[in-house]
Amino acid sequence: MNETPQKKAHIIVISNEKGGTGKSTLAMHLSVKLMQEGFKVATIDLDGRQGSLSKYISNRQTFCEDKGIKLPIPEHFRFEPETNIYLIPGEREKIGHQIYDLSNEYDAVVIDTPGTKNYLFEEAHKYADTLITPISDSLIDLNVIADIDYETGKINAPGHYANFVWETKKFLASQGKAYLNWIIAANKISPTRSRNKEIVFDYLQKISKLYGFRFFDGIKDRVIYKELFLEGLTVLDMQHEQLKMRMSISHLAAKMEIKRLAEFICPE
Ligand SMILES: Nc1ncnc2c1ncn2[C@@H]1O[C@H](COP(=O)(O)OP(=O)(O)OP(=O)(O)O)[C@@H](O)[C@H]1O
Ligand SMILES: [Mg+2]
Repeated sequence: MNETPQKKAHIIVISNEKGGTGKSTLAMHLSVKLMQEGFKVATIDLDGRQGSLSKYISNRQTFCEDKGIKLPIPEHFRFEPETNIYLIPGEREKIGHQIYDLSNEYDAVVIDTPGTKNYLFEEAHKYADTLITPISDSLIDLNVIADIDYETGKINAPGHYANFVWETKKFLASQGKAYLNWIIAANKISPTRSRNKEIVFDYLQKISKLYGFRFFDGIKDRVIYKELFLEGLTVLDMQHEQLKMRMSISHLAAKMEIKRLAEFICPE
């Protein structure tokens, strides 16, 4: 790890060792929200092979150019992991240098990560001020956070991602950084009431203090999050006067959800 950056940027890492939970979608939405609030934002796609966030942003650029519309677009960087980093001197440190450089120039750096751990993923966590872990209301997703015996209700052990965050926190503490703002954010929540959802939420609330995260219970499964990708838009852009999009109640509610998540980043 490089020296602790004397930086002004707040570094937000969106991560979970679980695929498809909404990391790239939330990275895009949060970045747009921060830019709308007047912050200067850089984004980093560490899932450069899949490149969802990179594609989302390039779709936005193309859409703006084609329509002659000015929307906020972050300064974007894309990284793909090398297969054998031991053959490339300094490869592991490269991402740290990039974050360090950006942190002097921007107010916020939003980092999207892949759903499985690699060296880029590990390095990025070392720079996080805020870590946002999207999770759906599914017991499979909960399993990466905690290994639970559902017969007895006993929490056996932290799941593999919670263990990794614990190791990250120990590392950060050894570097003099006592607090990592870890948020587990429920995403793609089913709109209907279900026993399964209640179980997942209850456990997350129960273990939040013990594992050192805050639980955000708020982003529903809404088709609009899927629909806007091709144009590179977010639910936050829909009311832009030049777009002339019709906002339904569900769209407005989605906008509120993202606003609440952005506000939730600041601990009380
Ligand atoms: N709140 C939501 N409601 C409905 N669909 C959603 C929501 N959030 C994300 N999605 C959809 O879920 C799918 C996975 O989202 P996304 O690609 O953001 O997840 P990811 O965690 O980045 O996945 P990966 O691990 O593959 O990188 C996409 O089709 C996306 O449009
Ligand atoms: Mg992704």
